[in-house]
Amino acid sequence: MNNPFVLGAIPPGAPFCNRSKELKELMSYSESNANVVLYSPRRYGKTSLTKRVQSILVDKGFIAIYIDPQACQARLN
Ligand SMILES: Nc1ncnc2c1ncn2[C@@H]1O[C@H](COP(=O)(O)OP(=O)(O)OP(=O)(O)O)[C@@H](O)[C@H]1O
Ligand SMILES: [Mg+2]
Repeated sequence: MNNPFVLGAIPPGAPFCNRSKELKELMSYSESNANVVLYSPRRYGKTSLTKRVQSILVDKGFIAIYIDPQACQARLN
């Protein structure tokens, strides 16, 4: 049986609880080319929300790029 619990960020097509106000606000900022900083304690859904916004933007014809600096390694020489 597949694990029914999603452990990582929620994929754009998966069920998503609430966040309709935040989605609307972030869409408005994105469409106005505004920079936004999302902050919260860990595991509050920042990445899932960001990916959802990006998916809606792509559906509307925007190009969305997701960069995860945590995946980068610094080289110190
Ligand atoms: N709107 C939502 N509905 C249901 N589950 C959610 C929702 N948003 C996030 N989750 C769940 O909460 C967990 C944390 O989500 P996510 O990874 O997006 O949080 P985060 O704030 O980016 O975490 P971190 O601070 O570790 O980067 C995930 O397991 C995800 O499945
Ligand atoms: Mg995250």
